Amino acid sequence: MHTPVLQSRLPNVGTTIFTVMSALATETGAVNLGQGFPDFDCDPKLVDAVTQAMQRGQNQYPPMTGVPVLREAIAAKVQALYGHAYHPVTDITVTAGATQAILTAILAVVHPGDEVIVLEPCYDSYVPNIELAGGVVVRVPLTPGNFRPDFDKIAAAITPRTRALIINSPHNPSGTVWSREDMLKLQDLLEPTDVLLISDEVYEHMVFDGQQHQSAARFPGLAARAFIVSSFGKTYHVTGWKVGFVAAPASLSAEFRKVHQFNVFTVNTPVQYGLATYMADPAPYLGLSDFYQRKRDLFRAGLAQTRFKLLPCEGTYFQCVDISALGVPERALPEADFCQWLTREIGVAAIPLSAFYGNGFDQHVVRFCFAKKDETLNAALQRLARL
Ligand SMILES: Cc1ncc(COP(=O)(O)O)c(C=O)c1O
Repeated sequence: MHTPVLQSRLPNVGTTIFTVMSALATETGAVNLGQGFPDFDCDPKLVDAVTQAMQRGQNQYPPMTGVPVLREAIAAKVQALYGHAYHPVTDITVTAGATQAILTAILAVVHPGDEVIVLEPCYDSYVPNIELAGGVVVRVPLTPGNFRPDFDKIAAAITPRTRALIINSPHNPSGTVWSREDMLKLQDLLEPTDVLLISDEVYEHMVFDGQQHQSAARFPGLAARAFIVSSFGKTYHVTGWKVGFVAAPASLSAEFRKVHQFNVFTVNTPVQYGLATYMADPAPYLGLSDFYQRKRDLFRAGLAQTRFKLLPCEGTYFQCVDISALGVPERALPEADFCQWLTREIGVAAIPLSAFYGNGFDQHVVRFCFAKKDETLNAALQRLARL
């Protein structure tokens, strides 16, 4: 018997750092502030709404693009918040989370040899997605230290072969939020080009200190060329449900849907109906920034008592810290080794920022996730106080 040997489509991909650190946290009993997911449950009303949909018998295939009531609710929300009218029939597609949405958008638009620009540090699925499409990954760094976009560098990376640019605000891992000026600059930069925009906005409802989320939908020149991606998992504390959506002009959505229908075809029915019912009340997503800002403040206040240097956190549920002033010799380790040590010896799991760079760029910064119960955050802070 013989199993044929494969030539890997993704030779550089191994087990993700998130899986590794979560497994290590479980093995060692560490407080897991590594992988980004809440350790508290969602609103029981949302579970009720999904349960009722199942009990009503809404259990068979929905339309390929998503159930109409959910697409209508999404279009209404985007219009109310960002002032752009997406047509629920032609412009909104419900996806199996943001991850599938991003892969599908890339497969739909990138031909072999096309260049796609990513801004590093970036979410780990972007690069393998581009490689699967046969695209060429063009890495542009966000400015080290403050993680702001460097528009001169982005402009220099654009060539006649550039098919798309992927942006992400609020930004994982750094917690930065692009300003209106940033988006206007981007709009001007892309205006004379045919570059498409994939705007990963999964943390759209987690923006702090009175700032506003600057969705690409607010900027007509960007909206006209953008696939805007969001995730109900992040917004409603249900990361395991894997439901998100893409909003894009009809001509872009049409190509997106060609790939979508032969990829997942569609997304599970009762969750879609449940989400549509639950979305009728805007309070949960309108209140999310305050909810997470309070957790951010609790966590930052605790860390301020340690020698971790806090980086700004304007949005998301991630707090980055510089480890170079810690009072232990392990501060000099590479970030990834430091995170292993922190998990094993101090009992708190974190993610090294180097994991978000193609070349493993090490700047002595690690990321904690604060989407946790207060008691979890306090337990972590108690352990980190030793540093
Ligand atoms: C920036 C970013 N994009 C996309 C995703 C994936 O979202 P989903 O769980 O809806 O696939 C995540 C999840 O961590 C993320 O941080």
